Amino acid sequence: MTARILDGAAVAAGIRARVAGRVAELATQGVVPRLEVILVGDDPASRVYVGSKARACLEVGVRSSTQSLPAATTGEELAARIEALNGDPDVDGILLQLPLPPPLDGRRFLDLIDPGKDVDGFHPRNVGLLQQGRPAFVPCTPGGVMELLDASGVVLQGAHAVVVGRSDIVGKPMAALLLQRHATVTVCHSRTRDLPGVCRLADVLVAAVGRAALVGGEHVNPGAVVVDVGVNRVEDAALVERLFPGDEGRRAQLAKRGYTLVGDVDFTAASRVASAITPVPGGIGPLTIAGLLLNTVRAARQRRGLPC
Ligand code: GUN
Repeated sequence: MTARILDGAAVAAGIRARVAGRVAELATQGVVPRLEVILVGDDPASRVYVGSKARACLEVGVRSSTQSLPAATTGEELAARIEALNGDPDVDGILLQLPLPPPLDGRRFLDLIDPGKDVDGFHPRNVGLLQQGRPAFVPCTPGGVMELLDASGVVLQGAHAVVVGRSDIVGKPMAALLLQRHATVTVCHSRTRDLPGVCRLADVLVAAVGRAALVGGEHVNPGAVVVDVGVNRVEDAALVERLFPGDEGRRAQLAKRGYTLVGDVDFTAASRVASAITPVPGGIGPLTIAGLLLNTVRAARQRRGLPC
């Protein structure tokens, strides 16, 4: 079997067009949604993500700016920034880019964000609402995965979904969303016994562990839908050759940049067994940003009492 490629970039383009339409409609009422991003420190990957988010906002007409703070920012300074944005009536959405440099503890600061401006859906209030199946800001990556599964016609009701990874950002909210849609959900993690055996129970397998190519062909139930949320930098030429044998594009990328991006799934092996699979890059990444745009427009409408 050779799996169908689930084109996240194409689905994300459709969502961006939808968001642009909603932004244009809001503009007729004098409302231009505004997102403020806080970036602390100089993590290169975070810088790239934040840049992509800002560009995407610009494209659909959402105002956005990034407050870059030095790695030595104190907890009091960061808390003051968040409080100022909470109190600014012109700000609709606040995104605190994670991870924070030590010793700053992400959870402590996420708790300070006004839940009505929490476009990441990480505030405990939004986490609780999501668990109860009530309207809430849905974390952007799992929200994007659901958009892709729906756009691809994947039936979730009654299906067995296995989520590999139990992070607050992806694994846990992913499980909640799949459960809401009447899937039978199993969540796996580093201490799961017989991970390949549990994964092989899946009709829909979502990998979100942050370990390059952890999920191989032996983890995939023949005909399953495989969603790869991982984005890992791989610098080891031998590993790249094993994962993408004879792939000139990957070799060239490695030579040029010193790394290539690999998901949590061994794409070559898994795509021989799955019925459908997301690539890395071009799979879930663009949908995460689309999810953020949806949430930002939602925040702008909600704050003004407009239907969402
Ligand atoms: N770091 C990695 N993913 C995310 C995300 O979705 N939101 C935020 N704020 N930080 C991240």
